[in-house]
Amino acid sequence: MTTPFTIEHIADHVGQRVTVKGWLYASTHKGKLLFLRLRDGTGIAQAVAYRPEVGDELFDELVHLGQESSLIVTGTVKANDRAPGVPGGYEIGIEAVQVLQNAVDYPIGPKEYGIEFLMDNRHLWLRSSKQWAILRIRATIKRAIIDFFDSHGFLNIDTPIITPSAAEGTSTLFEVGYFDEKAYLAQTGQLYNEANIMAFGKVYCFGPTFRAEKAKTRRHLAEFWMVEPEIAFCDLDDLIALEEEFVSYVVQTTLRERAAELALLERDVTVLQNITPPFPRISYDEAIERIHAIREATTDPQLKEFLAIEWGDDFGSPHETELTKQFDRPVFVYGYPTAVKAFYMEPWPGRPEVCKSVDLLAPEGYGEIIGGSERMSDPDVLLAAIRRHELPEANYQWYIDLRRYGSVPHSGFGLGLERTVAWICGIDHIRQTSPFPRTLKRLTP
Ligand code: 4AD
Ligand code: MG
Repeated sequence: MTTPFTIEHIADHVGQRVTVKGWLYASTHKGKLLFLRLRDGTGIAQAVAYRPEVGDELFDELVHLGQESSLIVTGTVKANDRAPGVPGGYEIGIEAVQVLQNAVDYPIGPKEYGIEFLMDNRHLWLRSSKQWAILRIRATIKRAIIDFFDSHGFLNIDTPIITPSAAEGTSTLFEVGYFDEKAYLAQTGQLYNEANIMAFGKVYCFGPTFRAEKAKTRRHLAEFWMVEPEIAFCDLDDLIALEEEFVSYVVQTTLRERAAELALLERDVTVLQNITPPFPRISYDEAIERIHAIREATTDPQLKEFLAIEWGDDFGSPHETELTKQFDRPVFVYGYPTAVKAFYMEPWPGRPEVCKSVDLLAPEGYGEIIGGSERMSDPDVLLAAIRRHELPEANYQWYIDLRRYGSVPHSGFGLGLERTVAWICGIDHIRQTSPFPRTLKRLTP
């Protein structure tokens, strides 16, 4: 069977007669010529109708087609340097057209619209070229993530979405009814992966996670995808080395496979080409010193106020943004105060107020894309932490068991897919990285 023609592969069809099944993205009419920009889901191509060739009846029908009309176009592919499209440089000389539906008054035209209008029309906005490019890039990033772990000896394993208790703090739980009990949507699969590695060595889960984030920021969704690798016999240094290799692979693969989409987004790819190991590593202590120095040096009173921070405080996005401006690639910040991190992180030897955590902060102001740590491996230390955090002890007995029967040093991390997509695409808000985003104020469409 021959594969049907798609615009994505138009370069392979020069001189051939092809059939495009798609939608009308835009059209311009100049005398006897009509230029239709067609989308078929895989790309955008210019198709040209010439009145004397297609005849008056068809020409006039095509001139009056509304944006997003559905149609089947047959014609011959020609190379033409000046033809716009994704990929550009080719056009189709129209021979025949079957109009399936003439769409009237499509609500999203070429002018500028407010974001709330566009989000209300997300089901249609997905067709616009930039949104289309972002989600194609997302698919490639997802594929690269899976390929990386599958080719590095990790077993892909699924963790439950309905869970009996918190893993990343109790404040962001979505509660669901579970027969006669209360349950919560998973904030992470990590705790289950800690059980999985004792059976399988190296594992990863990759799926949706849920956080009832009250924050209305450019970086938070209520539903997002996270990939979480977990590794037995792995310390913090091993983890950092894995993370930089992994992130570099994802970026370089995307650059190679999605050049046209990145160009459509006008992404400056030179900054992405830089993303190769090693990434800089700084301690939380050093990060605080650097932020203090930036704060001293700035003459902007508002920034000075935003950057106020003391040792022991968690970073807000202004801190992460200013800190990452100092580097040309993602930066690791390790050794955060125990008090600002989740309960399960291994204490720093000789410094119990600090834990063996590491966050990876993306450049260009994108902030944290990975959170990870070495995990507590001693059952008594873990039990004490569970009590300190006032977590329901009975629910965590199985988790403590993992430290009773063959405990080993182990580590893992979680990378947020949408934040990574936002950074690689260079877009200013995370909501455009999800086909149908869920945020504090939005559950529809
Ligand atoms: O730092 P977090 O909370 O880490 C964990 O959940 C660990 N259990 C991961 C692990 O070690 N297995 O979240 C990890 C990443 C963040 O760095 C961020 O990229 C993303 O998940 N993330 C969010 N993305 C979008 N919206 C939100 N509300 C997010 N919360 C976290
Ligand atoms: Mg985090």
